[in-house]
Amino acid sequence: MDRPCCPLALLPLLPLLLCLASLRAGSAASITTGTPDGSERWGYVEVRPKAHLFWWYYKSPQRTSSPAKPWPTVLWLQGGPGASGVGLGNFLEVGPLDVNLKPRNSTWLQKADLIFVDNPVGVGYSYVEDDTLLVTTDWQQAADATTLLKALVKEVPTLQSSPLFLVAESYGGKYAATLGASVARAVRAGELKVNLAGVALGDSWISPEDFTLSYTPLLLSVSRLDDNAGDEANKKAENVKRQITGGQFADAQRSWTDLLDIIGTRSGNVDMYNFLLDSGMDPVSADTPTVSSPSNVQALRYATYLGSQDSDSNTIDSIMNGVIKEKLRIVPKDLKWVEVSQAVYNTLVNDFMKPRIDEIDELLSYGINVTVYNGQLDVICSTNGAEAWVQKLKWDGLKSFLSLPRQSLYCGQSKGTKAFVRSYKNLHFYWILGAGHFVPADQPCIALSMIGSITQSPAS
Ligand SMILES: *[C@@H]1O[C@H](CO)[C@@H](O)[C@H](O)[C@H]1NC(C)=O
Ligand SMILES: *[C@@H]1O[C@H](CO)[C@@H](O)[C@H](O)[C@H]1NC(C)=O
Repeated sequence: MDRPCCPLALLPLLPLLLCLASLRAGSAASITTGTPDGSERWGYVEVRPKAHLFWWYYKSPQRTSSPAKPWPTVLWLQGGPGASGVGLGNFLEVGPLDVNLKPRNSTWLQKADLIFVDNPVGVGYSYVEDDTLLVTTDWQQAADATTLLKALVKEVPTLQSSPLFLVAESYGGKYAATLGASVARAVRAGELKVNLAGVALGDSWISPEDFTLSYTPLLLSVSRLDDNAGDEANKKAENVKRQITGGQFADAQRSWTDLLDIIGTRSGNVDMYNFLLDSGMDPVSADTPTVSSPSNVQALRYATYLGSQDSDSNTIDSIMNGVIKEKLRIVPKDLKWVEVSQAVYNTLVNDFMKPRIDEIDELLSYGINVTVYNGQLDVICSTNGAEAWVQKLKWDGLKSFLSLPRQSLYCGQSKGTKAFVRSYKNLHFYWILGAGHFVPADQPCIALSMIGSITQSPAS
């Protein structure tokens, strides 16, 4: 992939805001631009030679700030691995505009400034000039994203004083865990000036073993599997567990994929992101080109679940390769945006099944607020699985946390319970009712009020 054509040549076309970070960093490929009023900024940071991360910052129109109540910033980390946060999280979940470029009334921008990043390199608008530069571990991702933040504190003036929250979905939870630890260490070493105020893990893949072992009991209890299928699935799940314990992580991923195939066949194709749905019923996935390797199927389904079923609606692919790319101006012409990068998914094969519980313990030990939130109807990162890994924390507050009652939460005009929350010291757990894997898309009202509470937004 070519770098954006000689940034200097763009200068006369862009507003004064454009600055070349390259002049400072000594490389030619970091670039920042934005809207003339400063409400949006975006750019590329060359985090390693020939490896470029794309980011997009939105300043909240509701922004107020006082020393006692500082305005927060949310950095959204999409999953996959390989899925685009700039596209999916932004236009399908929490950003200011939906896929039809109409205002989203539940946007998290009402509570916080938002930064979306196509993370790691190779995802969405981010790119590498050589595929050997793709990350192979969560920790390499964390190193690149830490480099990005070191550049962003210069490009986004509010970032140094604004409480920063890493908010993740799905595989993004492993990014948030490692990036959180990496940022906390850099801050303590005096290498990075941000206020890392919290990490929030939405339906996050923190412990692949615990999620894998949860599938059968969950699907048995909601009638999507019978006992015979359950026995078959359990054998496969035990196999995954043995391989993880034995450090055979790539083999474990293959067995996990086999397990998903067994579940699909024996459950009438349950949607792994919401057990009330069938995955085959989504009209968007019917249009998805057939892919040969089974691991591809899960990665691709990730995004199609969020796709609109409305036939006169825009598709995310069409806006990201059309009007949005034109607006941003700096995305290389020959770069084709895709929902999920298969190359990025594949290069993480040896890390995919590794747990990141230790990193969560590290964050808790620093006193950083950690929030786990989980949709009740999710299977792939089930609530039971999340509860199981939380119980493995070594954090000294765990026993007290587990003994506390939950509080019921309500939202808007409706009378029904929307969620439960339990908090002790710096650990918080939200049970979100009626949501599958994609909590802000499924339950926008409670998700918005939750993000206000997590970030202690002055707008709450
Ligand atoms: C947002 O719009 C939806 C559908 O139009 C509506 O049901 C909901 O109440 C609105 N939410 C807010 C916070 O205005
Ligand atoms: C953690 O969150 C709670 C409220 O949820 C807040 O009172 C506390 O100050 C936060 N701690 C830190 C270190 O930000």
